[in-house]
Amino acid sequence: MTDATPGSPRVRWADPGDAAAVAARIEAEVRLGTPRRIAFTGGSTPLKVLALLATRDLDWSQVTIALTDDRRVPDDHPASNFGKIHAALGATGARFERLVEGMAVAPFDLVWLGMGDDGHVASLFPTMQALVRPGPTVIATTPVPLPVEAPFDRLTLNEMALKATAEIILVVTGAAKRALLDRVLAGTDVAALAYPVSDVLRGCGPQVTIYWSE
Ligand code: 6PG
Repeated sequence: MTDATPGSPRVRWADPGDAAAVAARIEAEVRLGTPRRIAFTGGSTPLKVLALLATRDLDWSQVTIALTDDRRVPDDHPASNFGKIHAALGATGARFERLVEGMAVAPFDLVWLGMGDDGHVASLFPTMQALVRPGPTVIATTPVPLPVEAPFDRLTLNEMALKATAEIILVVTGAAKRALLDRVLAGTDVAALAYPVSDVLRGCGPQVTIYWSE
C-alpha cells in the first residue's frame, strides 16, 4: 500500500493493483469465515478476477454476493452482470442478492467498484435519468446518452448504499482512467469534480483502495 493521497485522506493505492491482487483482497474477505456481504461490480474488468476466484478452494457459505448494478436484461443476456458473476461463482454456495428497484440495501463489508471512461461508477452516470430515493436503496437509472457498449436501462445501488460499507475497492485499468483519477484526486479540476467517482473519492465515506493496472 502506498500513502494516503493528498486531499483525500481516506484513499490509498494498492501496490500491486492487478487482477491477482484484487482476487487476493476478495479471497481475504471470504476467508474471514464470518457472515460477509460483498457487492460485486459489473463490466468487463472483473472477468479476470472472477476466473481467478473460481479456481480458489474457498468456503463461500457465509458470503452474500450482491451487485453494485446491472443492466435490465435477462440473466442469460451477454450484457447481464448477474449472469457473468453467477456463471463464475454460482456453484460456490454463496448466497446471491438480486437488485430490486426501491429495495432498501443492508450495509456491506466490501464494495467492489469499476469506473467508466466518463467517471461513472456502478450505474451512476454524469448525466442520467434517475428516480431519487431516500436512504441506501436500489434505484433505476437510464444513462444519457446510452453507452454504445451497453445501451440498456439500469438498476444500481445509489451513492448512500455504495458508501454503506467498511471498505470500497475501486478497480480500474489503463492510462486514461488513471489520468481521470489523478484529476479527481488533485481536487483542482472543477469538471472532474462533477464525475460520480468524485463522490466516492472525496467528501465523507469509507476507506477507498484503488487497484490500478495498465
Ligand atoms: C457496468 C458496471 C460499470 C463498470 C464500468 C467499467 O455495469 O458496466 O458496473 O460501472 O464498472 O463501466 O466497465 P469496464 O470494467 O468494462 O471498463
